[in-house]
Amino acid sequence: MKDLKYNEVRRKYLDFFKKKGHAEIPSAPLVPENDPSVLFVNAGMFPLAPFLLGEKHPKGVRLTNAQRCVRTGDIDKVGDNSHCTSFEMLGNWSLNDYFKEEAIRYTLEFFVEELELDINNIYASVFGGEDGIPKDEVSILVWKNLFKEYGIDAKVGKRERIQEFGKKDNWWGLDSGGPCGPDSEIFYDTGKEPCGENCDLSCDCGKYIEIGNNVFMEYLKEGDNLKPLGRHNVDFGGGLERITALLQGVNSVYEIDIYKPILEKIQEITPKDIKIGGNVNSEEILRSQRIIVDHIKAATWIVMDDIVPSNNQQGYILKRLIRRAVRHGRKLNITETFTAEIAKVAIDQFSTIYPNLNEKKEEIIKVIKEEEIKFNNTLENGLKELENLLEKKNKITGEDAFELYETYGLPLEVTEEILTEKNIALEDRQNFFSAQERHQEKSRSGSKGLFKGGLADTSEISTKYHTATHLLLASLRRVLGDHVYQKGSNITHERLRLDFPNETKLTQEELKQVEDLVNSAIEQELEVTFEEHPKEEALKIIEKHSSTSSFKEKYPDIVKVYFIGDKQSPFSVELCNGPHVSNTRELGKFKIVKQENIGAGVKRIKAILE
Ligand code: ALA
Repeated sequence: MKDLKYNEVRRKYLDFFKKKGHAEIPSAPLVPENDPSVLFVNAGMFPLAPFLLGEKHPKGVRLTNAQRCVRTGDIDKVGDNSHCTSFEMLGNWSLNDYFKEEAIRYTLEFFVEELELDINNIYASVFGGEDGIPKDEVSILVWKNLFKEYGIDAKVGKRERIQEFGKKDNWWGLDSGGPCGPDSEIFYDTGKEPCGENCDLSCDCGKYIEIGNNVFMEYLKEGDNLKPLGRHNVDFGGGLERITALLQGVNSVYEIDIYKPILEKIQEITPKDIKIGGNVNSEEILRSQRIIVDHIKAATWIVMDDIVPSNNQQGYILKRLIRRAVRHGRKLNITETFTAEIAKVAIDQFSTIYPNLNEKKEEIIKVIKEEEIKFNNTLENGLKELENLLEKKNKITGEDAFELYETYGLPLEVTEEILTEKNIALEDRQNFFSAQERHQEKSRSGSKGLFKGGLADTSEISTKYHTATHLLLASLRRVLGDHVYQKGSNITHERLRLDFPNETKLTQEELKQVEDLVNSAIEQELEVTFEEHPKEEALKIIEKHSSTSSFKEKYPDIVKVYFIGDKQSPFSVELCNGPHVSNTRELGKFKIVKQENIGAGVKRIKAILE
């Protein structure tokens, strides 16, 4: 097979399909235009959906492209050999033009003739029929004939050259609906021993690598119904990173020519005497380094498309990617800011393909670095809290460590390191994990939607709800009067709940006034700050601002006073332990979703942040 560079494989593919009458189209931006059903383009099909449904494409009925994609669903696998958050998908498209026979023939010709992969190592999977949809006999026949041209008598069956699978493996379309159909994948046998008796093309063990997929789109999914599309489209997709890794004979996508300098940069920055959890574990070190490479490279692409870190939608994913990379940097004992250096290399590596990266280089680096610094400050707060706890209790338990992680984002490794330096052992370490498990169970059952896939950080969402509760309380006092105070509060991943005394239920108008007040405080981008004072002094401050405190007795001698907005005339002043966001702009949009009368003159409001 040919040993080609990433850019060469890309060019070769596009040129091959141009020779076959396809027009080359550029990669669409990462954020889908006019399609709110996903946050990022995660397959080449997205930007082309209208044309698959029948709209005329200005460039004709045969198209080819390399589409930038971001997939966050597999985030837990990132750092293994083949999963990346961002990647390029090679695509060739037939818009109601050629179908199965030509599509499979082109695919095989590209891999065997152009890239010179050994036909003896090529395998194919086809749709074997399911849910009343018949087996894809045509693709089976096409594959058989093509193998025969190379003198191979291909059989169909388990462990054979052509293998049949059901919908799980050989059907493609978007969950939300649209054009879809059976598909046929092409695999390369690496020559590794099968992992067991059941090792087949659907197995993840690494013996067979999927190098491409032809989707035959002749159905339309609407809700749960499937009906004929009335057109026969082809959507071929091949992961460029994986194909390149195969050609370059390297074990992982992180070793291919375009990624390697990024990996080498982080390896250069990683202190040589790094110890993870007290033990040098080269596998774990490499995994953290790969995660940093992956996340920062993905971040450069996302910022290139004008997304900035925020608490919503794409911005939230971006923020989590950068912060996760920073956490892994800490794990590697990197003490200086480092994301800018990694971003610089990542930009240089991909700027021949995406010149925009270079044009926006300074801006991209600045955005990523600023988020890193912000996150480091959050971590600093965690460290301070750790010192406080130590002073108070003289020990730290696994549960404390989990609280520090959960509330301040302080990773367990960092807590342990600090304790080790002080010659203090972490007590009941295992309780960290049981607390984490309990928490995960809770958030798993409560979380759904866009943030699934490991990116959700419940502590951050809770912090936002916590600040929003202060804004709500202050707004209620403005609208209803000074008799309102916090009688009870409860925050989950999904909403806040506040109980307060008020004789009558709020009118629609009052609810709207309260909601508007909170949102205007958010829009004014008010700073959230705190001061520490002896309890008596703190209460004086509270009184001065005619605010109120419900749980006076429960507070320790020195308490925190949280201000939202200018300290001279703040929007809200509360005695509170925190934590809070640092600026109300982080909250997004506030919405009251429910009001209840819970008796004894107490009303309850539930509200969400969007
Ligand atoms: N869109 C198809 C896939 O992602 C090619 O596998």
